Amino acid sequence: MAWTSFPVDRFQGAIRAPGDKSCSHRALMLAGAATGVSEISGLLEGEDVINTARAMQALGAEVEQTAPGRWRIRGAGKAGLRSPSAPLDFGNSGTGSRLMMGLMAGYDLTAELTGDKSLSSRPMARITDPLKLMGAQFSPEGRDKLPLTLTGRADLTPISYAPKQASAQVKSAILLAGLNADGLTEVTELHATRDHTERMLRSFGVEVSVRPGTGSQNVVSIKGGQSLQAVETSIPGDPSSAGFLIAGALISPSGGVVVEHIMSNETRDGFFQAIGRMGAGLGAEEIGDGAGERLVDLQAATSNLKGCTIPETLVAAMIDEFPILAVIAAFAKGETRVRGAEELRVKESDRISAIVAMLRVNGVEVEEHKDGFTVMGCDGPPPGGGLVETRHDHRIAMSALVMGTASQKPVAVDDIAMIATSYPEFLDHMRTLGADIRET
Ligand code: S3P
Repeated sequence: MAWTSFPVDRFQGAIRAPGDKSCSHRALMLAGAATGVSEISGLLEGEDVINTARAMQALGAEVEQTAPGRWRIRGAGKAGLRSPSAPLDFGNSGTGSRLMMGLMAGYDLTAELTGDKSLSSRPMARITDPLKLMGAQFSPEGRDKLPLTLTGRADLTPISYAPKQASAQVKSAILLAGLNADGLTEVTELHATRDHTERMLRSFGVEVSVRPGTGSQNVVSIKGGQSLQAVETSIPGDPSSAGFLIAGALISPSGGVVVEHIMSNETRDGFFQAIGRMGAGLGAEEIGDGAGERLVDLQAATSNLKGCTIPETLVAAMIDEFPILAVIAAFAKGETRVRGAEELRVKESDRISAIVAMLRVNGVEVEEHKDGFTVMGCDGPPPGGGLVETRHDHRIAMSALVMGTASQKPVAVDDIAMIATSYPEFLDHMRTLGADIRET
């Protein structure tokens, strides 16, 4: 069964952004390992995050939902995490599985990690290589994909490591392992990536230091042996999910939206900077802080968009937003060029190939590069009329449905199930703003 998004005249209203996925995973992990009882509100209840909650429970934390978005967690604390009695299933989540490998590596436990078809095809050596250097073991030996069995140890060796990819997941896995290593663990980043692990570790009472390396590098370090103390915290809104609604406003014939409570963090704001260069009419109102992050309400309205070259320095800070950026580029005047984004090949799908196929099937001219793509904008609504293959990728599905709201003809997708991994309220929110999305 396909789902189709029909063009609408108006996209208008106000929506509170769902909880940030990256922060939600991290809050559950740190609370589950901490000493004491943490209270978390605004947690994203998408499938990816729920799988992390289940994993923490299987490892010995007490995890309980007390109301929608509110979770109480009694951490394993000094007793430590223990071997689960069954494999830990991370579903579709790279963040859940990779960060958990780092966290579990520092405990005397053995756990098998599994995932769905998409996650089981994603590279894991980027995580297992540094963790092996620290003393964790993985079997079967030499395997780069899930399923994998990890055996951790409470006396990990600290390392100084420079990952080959600009990846917050790799950085975070090493830092979480470093929490239980005997000495100082250091990660030198290729480019600065999202810093939620660093911020959240600090909010749980752990010292993390960051010093500038050469160029845009950061050197992040953590001293092992520090303990996590339970917190009361609220999760800020997800700028990546908000991006879909903002895009809907920019391309719509009329209207305007406000997305409230969005986290404003410079390691995540590349998309907003990029669309600003493309002529997006955006307004931001600061509304305070939450969980150590700045919060804003963002307004967006119908805009005259023009193509641009995305600076490679923005890539890491907008790594999840390229599918929706490509949709905006299809409506813009002129070309939009993306390079230096080869990491898109190993996301929930090969996103370069999925983006190119999504645009082509809707009549948009696009060129594929090894490390990016170039979109020839239509200077207005693209033809549409295509059926997009979502390839098990939530962000491709959401991007295509946003495109359909303002294309000349409807845009269909072959599946919407995966949207629940990151943004379960997506269809409700889109319909509240005026989208016409139906099963067809
Ligand atoms: C994430 C890091 C990014 C991003 C993912 C979430 C995180 O992945 O694509 O959706 O929460 O650390 P990489 O670290 O692989 O770039």
